[in-house]
Amino acid sequence: MRYSALADSKCIRAGLVFASGKLEGHLDEVGLTDIATSIELMHTYSLIHDDLPAMDDDGMRRGQPSNHVKFNEATAILAGDALQALAFETIASSKGIIDAHKVEAVRMLAVACGHQGMVLGQQYDLDAEKNELLDIELIHSLKTAKLIQVALTMPYLGNEMYKKTQVLLNDLGGKIGLAFQIMDDVLEVSSDSVTLGKSNLSDITNKKMTYVSVYGVEESIQKAETLSNFCIEQIQENFEIDKARELIELMHLMVSRSN
Ligand code: IPE
Ligand code: MG
Ligand code: MG
Repeated sequence: MRYSALADSKCIRAGLVFASGKLEGHLDEVGLTDIATSIELMHTYSLIHDDLPAMDDDGMRRGQPSNHVKFNEATAILAGDALQALAFETIASSKGIIDAHKVEAVRMLAVACGHQGMVLGQQYDLDAEKNELLDIELIHSLKTAKLIQVALTMPYLGNEMYKKTQVLLNDLGGKIGLAFQIMDDVLEVSSDSVTLGKSNLSDITNKKMTYVSVYGVEESIQKAETLSNFCIEQIQENFEIDKARELIELMHLMVSRSN
């Protein structure tokens, strides 16, 4: 669990939690840290399982051998299982979130990651290796954007006062999450495995449907930039610029990154 969770990573989702939390300053540092940790643990579990031979069968992650390569398949499955449980435990045990809000936080995370969210996206992603009729935007919106939406909205959970903020951030999270995964597809065909810290041949080898395989590189980059620009404009329009700077920077980075 430590091997994968503490490996070198961009921690984009944790960054989104803190940047979102700053917009209207609802939760304190302790609550935000627990939410950020929980989401990163959930993300790490999903990557360990995503790399398994039965899924994408990838040998490298975060610049080091994948969990099942370093240890073994059974240990990787269990490490993922335990990281997922720890994600929920982290929220439930938080000293920075009131009990009523914890219930809502756990529910939000479960919905985002479970059978209607990330896991459904992962199933569609596997199905799409054999079924060209599946919708690439739907796959990306589920497998990647759901967790990113929760990273942005969870800092405003359970408080009626922030309902409008939550709705807006949920919408922007869907868009920037899609943009983020589109760039992931672009980087896989335009970068190398050392820069990426993971395989750059995985999608090709697995005959994945990706944004690039459907629309080509140019159109994919354009789509990601359009989505990111829209999100940034919306953030600029709806929040004080001093409080929004970090989120704007992150939204820019999510589509201009090199790994
Ligand atoms: C991974 O998607 C999505 C989840 C783990 C939920 P990909 O399979 O496209 O991502 P990489 O290229 O392995 O990181
Ligand atoms: Mg995958
Ligand atoms: Mg993968």
